[in-house]
Amino acid sequence: MPGFEFFGKEEIKEVNDVLETGILMRYGFDGPRKGIWKAKELETAICGTFGCTHAQLVSSGTAALTAAMSALGIGYGDEVIIPSFTFVASFEAVLSVGAVPVLVDVDDSLTLDPQAVRDAITPKTKCIMPVHMCGSMADLDALQAICKEHNLVLLEDACQSIGGTYKGKKLGTIGDAGTFSFDFVKTITCAEGGVIMTNREDVYTACDGYSDHGHDHKGVDRGADLHPFIGYNFRISELHAAVGLAQIKKLDSFLAIQKKNHTALKNELARIPEVSFRRIPDENGDSCTFLSWFLPTEEATRAVVAELKAQNILAGNFYWYDNNWHYISKWDHLKNSITLNSLHPDLKAAVIKHATKDFSASDAIMSRCVSTAISLLWTAEQLKIKGEQLANVIRKVLQEQRITV
Ligand SMILES: Cc1ncc(COP(=O)(O)O)c(C=O)c1O
Repeated sequence: MPGFEFFGKEEIKEVNDVLETGILMRYGFDGPRKGIWKAKELETAICGTFGCTHAQLVSSGTAALTAAMSALGIGYGDEVIIPSFTFVASFEAVLSVGAVPVLVDVDDSLTLDPQAVRDAITPKTKCIMPVHMCGSMADLDALQAICKEHNLVLLEDACQSIGGTYKGKKLGTIGDAGTFSFDFVKTITCAEGGVIMTNREDVYTACDGYSDHGHDHKGVDRGADLHPFIGYNFRISELHAAVGLAQIKKLDSFLAIQKKNHTALKNELARIPEVSFRRIPDENGDSCTFLSWFLPTEEATRAVVAELKAQNILAGNFYWYDNNWHYISKWDHLKNSITLNSLHPDLKAAVIKHATKDFSASDAIMSRCVSTAISLLWTAEQLKIKGEQLANVIRKVLQEQRITV
């Protein structure tokens, strides 16, 4: 997820525009800012690039999820269905609005299994939150049908899939709301930042106020703003927005390079019949930040990871099953409900249930999966070497373990 790989004079120019005015805040100071409004400009660019009617920039992807949930009216007593494979931010955001995160299995798309979602629905379910992990999408047709049937809201966590599409529409713009993260390792980066995208004016207006202390932003005098509801400070700064503005102009070229490198690597691994690939509900819509592949058994997958490590070529290959950040098996802080302040006893009880919940269907997928990060900087020669090294390690392990299909 490599926006930082392509930093240059464009980012410096945009940041200097802001530094020259000295107005680092996105709101107010209309005179001294001399017409420089980087956050507003980036929001307009986001609407144009991704095809949504509203975009609200905030300070992070986590803040974007939190603001979106509040704007969608999700809170105490509500359940939000999320996948067992995601980043910790997904459940943090649910907990931050006082709702219950209900983690369910993923399937071979590495995203929410629609049947597992159906099985998890209760009268308290308010929202389904697919996470479009590692550049590619959940089965949105199936999830939208479930939302319609049960009158639920769909919030897309598209933080890892900037530029991906589903049936011609940009990920993050299909549900009631969707979010991107622009943190340092995302497809395009602001260093730190995030956005809520929506086609619902009510959701936008709520996010706009919520991310700035509930200010209504109605008049020209910021000091006279009213507060129709309680909000927080999730504002993005002009400096961060300026970086994002330079990066969004490069998105198409990033995506083209990712696609080319992804295809070349996939072609190399596809020559091994025992290797299979992540199911992608709409192949054309993969943003190609990662190539995610499977081996037939957990034992073989672990052996490949160990061999890559032994040969000092593991960097950029992720075995999520053992990863502290991204998979339920390592989230003891969640499963034991370890928080710094006290939670409502009902919420705590619901969270602790995850310690004994059966995730064997997810385990069967994730224990055989490796995702290889796609770099924008690989030369054709480096890409060839990378693919051959990876393929050689896989073949060696398959031979040692006598695995054939
Ligand atoms: C799937 C997912 N959701 C949310 C986030 C949170 O984004 P941020 O780091 O900008 O808070 C991330 C960040 O890695 C993510 O991968």
